[in-house]
Amino acid sequence: MIGFSRAAQTLVCDGVPLSAIAEAEGTPVYVYSAAVLRERYRALDHAFGSHPHRLHYALKANSTLGLARLLCELGSAADANSIWEVELARKAGFSAADIVFTGVGKSPAELECAVPLGLKAINVESVGELARVEAIAVRLGLVGRVALRVNPDIDAKSHPHISTGLRINKFGMPLDDVRALFRTIMSRRSLKLVAIHVHIGSQMTTTEPLARSAALVADLVKELGACGIPLEYVDLGGGLGISYDGRPVPTVEQYVTALLSAVAPTGLPIVIEPGRAIVGPSGTLLARVIDLKPRNADSQFAVLDAGMAELMRPALYNAYHGVEPVSVRSGGETQYELVGPICESADVVARDRLLTPLEVGDLVAIRDAGAYGSAMASNYNRHPLPAEVLVDDGRWRVIRRRQTIDDMTALEI
Ligand code: LLP
Repeated sequence: MIGFSRAAQTLVCDGVPLSAIAEAEGTPVYVYSAAVLRERYRALDHAFGSHPHRLHYALKANSTLGLARLLCELGSAADANSIWEVELARKAGFSAADIVFTGVGKSPAELECAVPLGLKAINVESVGELARVEAIAVRLGLVGRVALRVNPDIDAKSHPHISTGLRINKFGMPLDDVRALFRTIMSRRSLKLVAIHVHIGSQMTTTEPLARSAALVADLVKELGACGIPLEYVDLGGGLGISYDGRPVPTVEQYVTALLSAVAPTGLPIVIEPGRAIVGPSGTLLARVIDLKPRNADSQFAVLDAGMAELMRPALYNAYHGVEPVSVRSGGETQYELVGPICESADVVARDRLLTPLEVGDLVAIRDAGAYGSAMASNYNRHPLPAEVLVDDGRWRVIRRRQTIDDMTALEI
C-alpha cells in the first residue's frame, strides 16, 4: 500500500515509520510520498485518454525543488505565478516552452524578464497587461505568445477566499473585454494569441461550475474561429478538490469528463493547471505535542510545535485537516483542541477532535498538507521554515533542511 498507512499501530509513509523521520530530523517536518505524487499525476494524465492534453503543475501549491523536479521527470509542464516561480521552474528542469506564466499582478520588471524567455504563454489578465506585453515585444522585436484569461462570472462554490471566477473577483477579464480584444488582436503583429484561459477557483468539490466555464471557453473558441483566429490550445486552469474529511469529491474521471464534454468538439488540446489534486494528499506535516492542559469540561488543549507559521490553512480558511497520533495509545477517545504555539487565538490546527489519548512528546500527523502547506509557511514568531523530507521507494532524504536563525537573519542589515 502506498502513502500513509498504519503498520503495527504506527503510521508509516511508503513503509518508512514516521517516528524514525521525526527522530532524525526533529519536528515540525513535512513528509512527502513520491509514490502518491506519481500516482496522482498519472491518474489525471491517464484520465484524458487519447485527447491531446498537457498537465501544467501549479507550482504555487508546492514549489519545493525536490518535488518540482520529480514532477518535471514525470513529464509534467508548469504553471508559474510569478517570475520567481518561472525561475524556480527552470531550475527544476522545466523548459521555457513548457511554462505558462499566470497571475493577476505581473510587475513591469517581471514582464520585462518573461517576454523574451519564449514561454508557452503569458496568461494576460487585463487589457492594460496585454498592452504592456505588446510594448515590450515591439521594443525587443519579438512576438509575445499570450493567452487571454476570461472571468466567466461563475461561482466555483468553494471557500470565498479561493473562488476566483465571479465578476467581483480581481481575476481575468469580463467576456465583453475579451470579445473586444478579438477584433484588434489579428492586427497586432507583436502578439500571438495562443489560448483562452480560465480558472474559477480552488478546492472545488462539484464539477458543474467547471463544466460551465469550459463550455464558455469552447464558445469563445468558436467565435474566434469564425473571425479566422486559430488557437493552439485551451487552458482550463486548476481547481479540482481533494477530500480532507472523507466526504466524496469528484473523481479524476468525472473531472476530466466534465472538461472534455465541453471542449472536445473544438478539437483543441487541453491544458490544465492542477496543484492541490496532485500534491495535497502526498504530504503530511509531522508535529509533536509540547503541552496538554484543560480547556473546558469536555476537552483539552494539545499544544503542538507546528501551527499557523508552518500550516496556515486552518487559521486562514478555517480549513479541515485530518489529525492522528502517529502511535496509538490505548484508552478511550478524548476530545482535543489541537493548537499551535503562535501568539494568536486563530492559531488552531484542528478543533474538537476525538483522538486516542495523547501525552506530551507524542507525535501527531496532520494529513493532506502537501498543497499550500510549506508553500505558505512563514517566519511569524521567528519560527524557522520546517524541514521537508521525500520518501521514495522505501528510502527517505531531506529535500529542504530546516531553516536556522542565521538563515533567517542573513538578509538583515
Ligand atoms: N491556476 C491558477 C491560475 C490558480 O490561481 C491556481 C490556484 C491554480 C491553477 C491551482 O489550483 P489548484 O489545482 O491547486 O486548486 N491557498 C489556498 C489555495 C489557493 C489557490 C490559488 N490559485 C488553499 O490553501 O486552499
